[in-house]
Amino acid sequence: MIKKILLGALLLSNSIFAASEVNVYSHRHYDTDKQLFKMFEEKTGIKVNVVKADANALIKRLSSEGEKSPADVLITVDAGRLYQAKSKGLLQAIDSKYLIENIPAKLRDEDNQWFALTKRVRAFVIPKDSNLDENLKTYEDLIKPEYKKMIMVRSSNHIYNQSMLAAVIAHHGEEYALKWAKGVVANLARRPKGNDRYQVKAVANGIGKIGIANTYYVGKMIGNKDLSESEAVKNVKIIFPKFENGGTHINVSGAGVAKYAPNKENAIKFIEFLASPEAQEIFANGNFEYPVVKGMKKNPVVASWGEFKDDTISINTLGKYNAKAVRIFDEAGWR
Ligand SMILES: [Fe+2]
Repeated sequence: MIKKILLGALLLSNSIFAASEVNVYSHRHYDTDKQLFKMFEEKTGIKVNVVKADANALIKRLSSEGEKSPADVLITVDAGRLYQAKSKGLLQAIDSKYLIENIPAKLRDEDNQWFALTKRVRAFVIPKDSNLDENLKTYEDLIKPEYKKMIMVRSSNHIYNQSMLAAVIAHHGEEYALKWAKGVVANLARRPKGNDRYQVKAVANGIGKIGIANTYYVGKMIGNKDLSESEAVKNVKIIFPKFENGGTHINVSGAGVAKYAPNKENAIKFIEFLASPEAQEIFANGNFEYPVVKGMKKNPVVASWGEFKDDTISINTLGKYNAKAVRIFDEAGWR
């Protein structure tokens, strides 16, 4: 009898255990994410198992694992990649009233297969003592001859640039996008190389005057143990450019539920948690990004950079025009 009860209890606890986990494939490597996953575990008793790799590797892995994939949630750091995961049939529609009501339509997939969780801004960094910001107001301005030998930017292989050019295509069409890409190349201070932080450092060190970078890198460089970063960042300031007929280029990190998620309910709970006001404040501000739900307090450093208006185009567009952007970069000679 006792044996039977014990066996029953064991089976029950096993089944609870099996149902109480969520397997997350994530491209985000931030300390705040770890903290949030722990908060979710404490709140719900659902264990969070994380596989970290870059988005391309995770998407490949999901593809090859197919129906047998243990993945429940895919988190990536660019709308273009979320779009790619959806196009390959790796995600499924998420049925969540909370997410639909709280995350604006232009920040989620058209079929609700993924939702943005943070917003990031691709902006310009200039020397602190420069007055370039008096005239440099738009992305379109970058191709004016007065900015010759000033611009520094990473390679066109990187999806942040591909998404930025996709936004140019969305606003002006392909013909202008090619003209714009060629114009930026003509104004480069050096050939595209390094990451975003590298451009910020180069602005501080006088190699060029305009660096294109995601603003959260500036936040991460402040007070960094690496003095080449923390010292450099003291000598720069951020301009939030806009598109002539739109706003400032934003991108997102976001999450989707995997097509064959074994723990689908937990996956939805997990994404809803990351979009909850409590988590949003930590998730976005911890990495100097912006929350996607309204009414959150801004990190003081982020607030000190000033205000901007989000671009008007849907984030879905960035993925849709990715292939075109890659081709135009190639034609423009933006390596
Ligand atoms: Fe990044």
